[in-house]
Amino acid sequence: MAAMKSLSVLAALLTWANALDNGVGRLPAMGYDTFNAFSCDYTATSVLGQAMAMQQRGLVDAGYNILILDDCYALRNRSANGSMVADPSKFPSGIPAFSKQVNELGIKLAAYGDNGYETCAGYPGSYGRELQDLETWHSWGMSYLKYDNCYIPSDNITQKGEYGRYTRMADAIAQFAAKTGESPFLFSLCEWGWNQPWVWGKKLSQSWRIDGDIKPYWSAIAAIIDQVSFQYWSSDFYGHNDMDILEVGNTGQGSPPGNLTYEESKSHFTAWALMKSPLIIGTDLSNATDETFEILGNLDLIKINQDPNSGESISPFRWGVGADYVSDPNHPAEYWSGNSSYGVVFMILNSQDTNATMKFNLTESWAIQAGRQYSVYDMWQHKETGIAVRNMTFDLPPHGVAALLLNDAGPEPSYLNGSCALYYQCAFPNGTYISN
Ligand SMILES: *[C@@H]1O[C@H](CO)[C@@H](O)[C@H](O)[C@H]1NC(C)=O
Ligand SMILES: *[C@@H]1O[C@H](CO)[C@@H](O)[C@H](O)[C@H]1NC(C)=O
Ligand SMILES: *[C@@H]1O[C@H](CO)[C@@H](O)[C@H](O)[C@H]1NC(C)=O
Ligand SMILES: *[C@@H]1O[C@H](CO)[C@@H](O)[C@H](O)[C@H]1NC(C)=O
Ligand SMILES: *[C@@H]1O[C@H](CO)[C@@H](O)[C@H](O)[C@H]1NC(C)=O
Ligand SMILES: *[C@@H]1O[C@H](CO)[C@@H](O)[C@H](O)[C@H]1NC(C)=O
Ligand SMILES: *[C@@H]1O[C@H](CO)[C@@H](O)[C@H](O)[C@H]1NC(C)=O
Ligand SMILES: *[C@@H]1O[C@H](CO)[C@@H](O)[C@H](O)[C@H]1NC(C)=O
Ligand SMILES: *[C@@H]1O[C@H](CO)[C@@H](O)[C@H](O)[C@H]1NC(C)=O
Ligand SMILES: *[C@@H]1O[C@H](CO)[C@@H](O)[C@H](O)[C@H]1NC(C)=O
Ligand SMILES: *[C@@H]1O[C@H](CO)[C@@H](O)[C@H](O)[C@H]1NC(C)=O
Repeated sequence: MAAMKSLSVLAALLTWANALDNGVGRLPAMGYDTFNAFSCDYTATSVLGQAMAMQQRGLVDAGYNILILDDCYALRNRSANGSMVADPSKFPSGIPAFSKQVNELGIKLAAYGDNGYETCAGYPGSYGRELQDLETWHSWGMSYLKYDNCYIPSDNITQKGEYGRYTRMADAIAQFAAKTGESPFLFSLCEWGWNQPWVWGKKLSQSWRIDGDIKPYWSAIAAIIDQVSFQYWSSDFYGHNDMDILEVGNTGQGSPPGNLTYEESKSHFTAWALMKSPLIIGTDLSNATDETFEILGNLDLIKINQDPNSGESISPFRWGVGADYVSDPNHPAEYWSGNSSYGVVFMILNSQDTNATMKFNLTESWAIQAGRQYSVYDMWQHKETGIAVRNMTFDLPPHGVAALLLNDAGPEPSYLNGSCALYYQCAFPNGTYISN
């Protein structure tokens, strides 16, 4: 008895220390969310337009396969038996029928809900009705839940912090899966980074928002990247920092209008993909530009985001403009690298408002081997661009990005005479330093 008990305590501790691995959400989610483009102003027709564009423009083939109905799909009042009711003016044929239409395009509908009495826009919240609402969403063909944090019960009722409040739905998801025998809902926390979800989020969920709502301006994108430079370590298989819905495509849209440049939009998408954030489209695709489709459909970056063998995010090895390890929302870290199945990944970001010449030594990255040269593949030009020896130098436009994949191309050239890239302590066998 005692032995059994300590074994199960040990098992519980092991589970506690690792990410929640219940079989879903191993890789970052990819899909669409109605919020950034439509807020509450959508109908079955406009949402179906998004799904059709995703399918027709190759985004479903690229991996975008969920469609989150964000806030405002329901009536404000629940039915007599307490269940949520889809708004018939938005979904005249009901959500189950709509769900089937979307499925035919290779996409699955996903749910939005809220941890409190009401959603942020004042529709029914799920506090106290977690299982009942999971039943409803399941009957609508959904198995993914984005869970918001508005109108939460007062502290004297919950007597819990964010972790405890979100545990209610995590437990309901596990209970519901046990009951149906189906895979658990993928659980996506939207509590805006309160109470450090990058620390505990992976115990309950597959992704956690790290910040408040994104905006379609560079200052917002740069601030999120700055935050990840201190939280990148949290993303790996089965658990991901959620950097929020993409703003790619929203230039000139909304009020005040979005104003990301093409270069800024590329930097935005590069960071989200390589930092292993969920990639959730948030623009009206029914009339999006070719540039928008080009960025969202960058298969080289999506391949790294969805790497089946390497779950880790890129990490900064040098901040650049600012001092290392110092937060600056205007000048986030500029020099990043990481490992992947396809080579060593580099992201070089020009955080300045002017053109800049960017330089780095290869061995500044932990993932590079000293004494080797590397072939360089550019993930925006989609081609090999040359061989890198020791260092790389290139010019980037304001807020521009380079996304590179480096692969071993043999020993360094002999003209380097075996000198060390980092010469401190580099010595001959007789103990004399090699100074270069
Ligand atoms: C919704 O519920 C509220 C509160 O119970 C009630 O006052 C209101 O009349 C209901 N609205 C509808 C349309 O049933
Ligand atoms: C609850 O009411 C809704 C709407 O009237 C109905 O569709 C649903 O089947 C009911 N659920 C149960 C469990 O009775
Ligand atoms: C919690 O506090 C609120 C606001 O002061 C009060 O109205 C309510 O009765 C309290 N509830 C409990 C369960 O103590
Ligand atoms: C972009 O728009 C935001 C919000 O209106 C504004 O604060 C910012 O100055 C604009 N940036 C540029 C470069 O125009
Ligand atoms: C798409 O159409 C909407 C509605 O007419 C308009 O507001 C928006 O600017 C258009 N988007 C683009 C990228 O042209
Ligand atoms: C990089 O990732 C690949 C794929 O998982 C793995 O085989 C390789 O050992 C990793 N390299 C390093 C240096 O971690
Ligand atoms: C930045 O570089 C581009 C391309 O070389 C050039 O056309 C542009 O004039 C430069 N801008 C500034 C402010 O130097
Ligand atoms: C790059 O390498 C050169 C030559 O070893 C060295 O002088 C320089 O300080 C290095 N730069 C960085 C940022 O490590
Ligand atoms: C870059 O590496 C080359 C060898 O390929 C070396 O000649 C040059 O001095 C290095 N530059 C810097 C800035 O380290
Ligand atoms: C390598 O050795 C040759 C011959 O001594 C010398 O001319 C050359 O400068 C050395 N190269 C480097 C990079 O030190
Ligand atoms: C140690 O070995 C190096 C390389 O062979 C040589 O240049 C150097 O003179 C030696 N130092 C001593 C103190 O023997």
